[in-house]
Amino acid sequence: MSQPLLSMEGVSKAYSADAQILRDVTFKQGSNEFLAIVGPSGCGKTTMLRCISALMSPDSGSVFHEGQSFDDPPPWLSIVFQDYNRSLFPWLSVRRNVEQGLRDVARSERDDRVSEALTAVKLDHAADLYPWQLSGGMQQRCALARSIVTAPRLLLLDEPFASVDAQTRIDLQDLVMDICERMSLSALLVTHDIDEAVFMADKVVVLSTRPATVVEEIPIDLPRPRDQLTTKETPEFLSLRHKVYTLVRQQAQ
Ligand SMILES: Nc1ncnc2c1ncn2[C@@H]1O[C@H](COP(=O)(O)OP(=O)(O)O)[C@@H](O)[C@H]1O
Ligand SMILES: [Mg+2]
Repeated sequence: MSQPLLSMEGVSKAYSADAQILRDVTFKQGSNEFLAIVGPSGCGKTTMLRCISALMSPDSGSVFHEGQSFDDPPPWLSIVFQDYNRSLFPWLSVRRNVEQGLRDVARSERDDRVSEALTAVKLDHAADLYPWQLSGGMQQRCALARSIVTAPRLLLLDEPFASVDAQTRIDLQDLVMDICERMSLSALLVTHDIDEAVFMADKVVVLSTRPATVVEEIPIDLPRPRDQLTTKETPEFLSLRHKVYTLVRQQAQ
């Protein structure tokens, strides 16, 4: 059997002796799988992503990519952070921000790849604007373009839609699902929004409160493409939402 794209095995992490954040976190993500991780605020989701991206080492346990361990932030992985306004360079245009993902690539190839990424996120028309001239949703699309321009295999999304209004959030969810489908890209979405997790994912991993550990993994076998209205009205969606919601609520008690 082929190795999973990503696996976390028994990962624990503490920031200090009395602040255990992750406790024995174990899960697997297959190739082309869209995984959502839900857990309450402050439970350790971002810490988990730092361990996955090798920005931080676990105290114990391991993270594997196709069965291999790794030390530095690997080239097959890209991250989109929650705070788009802190992750973009305000002094660089949209085009130049996206280009930052490609510093090691020849100039002749860079322009084409940046244009492709901007087209994918529907920002061609804004290439020469600066981040402060864009709406929140456009800034997050710029951050998304910078992440996909490197042609990663796995996209880590850390509550990427948390700071935008409801309509923009919906548009970004559809855009990310569409990009993952078209680029055969696996995604690991961290969110505290249960509807979003069930709507977007192939599998939802529910975390406990701090210290975070995996409570349950729920396969989401809703057909694709998914639609914001019709999918969310199906009995299957409502039943899965009910299940995840109940698990998350039990954690809070
Ligand atoms: N670098 C750090 N040093 C010390 N404590 C931290 C650090 N980063 C996060 N924490 C604490 O660890 C806990 C989990 O944080 P985080 O992983 O950001 O949670 P989440 O992303 O689920 O909201 C929080 O209580 C937070 O205050
Ligand atoms: Mg976080």
